[in-house]
Amino acid sequence: MTRKPISFEDLRTNIHLTWSKQGMLLTSGDFAAGHFNTMTVGWGSMGVMWGRPFVQVVVRPTRYTYEFMEQYESFTLCAFPETHRQALQILGTRSGRDGDKIAEAGLTPIASTLVPAPGFAEADLIVECRKMYWQDMDPAHFLDPTIETHYAKKDYHRIYFGEAVAISGTKAYV
Ligand SMILES: Cc1cc2nc3c(=O)[nH]c(=O)nc-3n(C[C@H](O)[C@H](O)[C@H](O)COP(=O)(O)O)c2cc1C
Repeated sequence: MTRKPISFEDLRTNIHLTWSKQGMLLTSGDFAAGHFNTMTVGWGSMGVMWGRPFVQVVVRPTRYTYEFMEQYESFTLCAFPETHRQALQILGTRSGRDGDKIAEAGLTPIASTLVPAPGFAEADLIVECRKMYWQDMDPAHFLDPTIETHYAKKDYHRIYFGEAVAISGTKAYV
């Protein structure tokens, strides 16, 4: 996939559709050390916080990826063309604890430009992020009681904000 650097101001994306219809890959760890993991995410946001471009993701503590998000200071968020729907399905239903699901999904991890966490060669958008804030979801603050139905196991998400320090994408994103 041919991607070029894109400034936050020039980024054109229907991010709400990318989240809800396709999902993205959240990857944390250290590519050079060969220690990283990825999983599909469908809930999150992108915007401006503290005057900086940011991405927000939510990770349940039961995910293997959670261990990487805790250990490392960076993560990437990658979007893919429709042709990779099956790969996102695999990476969102199997755990990296149980084997090399990235190889199984047929994706190729690649070095990022500014952060240790890798992206993927097949991605059409890669957002490199440096963690800047986290907070655990507090069920006492659910104003809509139906939200609780998402947490039968009480595994409330940890929310991470990452500063988007580098963005690269195909022409469709400019
Ligand atoms: C479309 C889709 C969206 C998902 N979104 C999230 C999410 O936002 N947060 C989360 O914690 N898990 C989410 N998951 C579940 C994880 O991707 C899944 O549990 C994965 O197998 C975890 O892998 P890991 O154990 O290797 O980290 C999603 C799964 C799918 C299929």
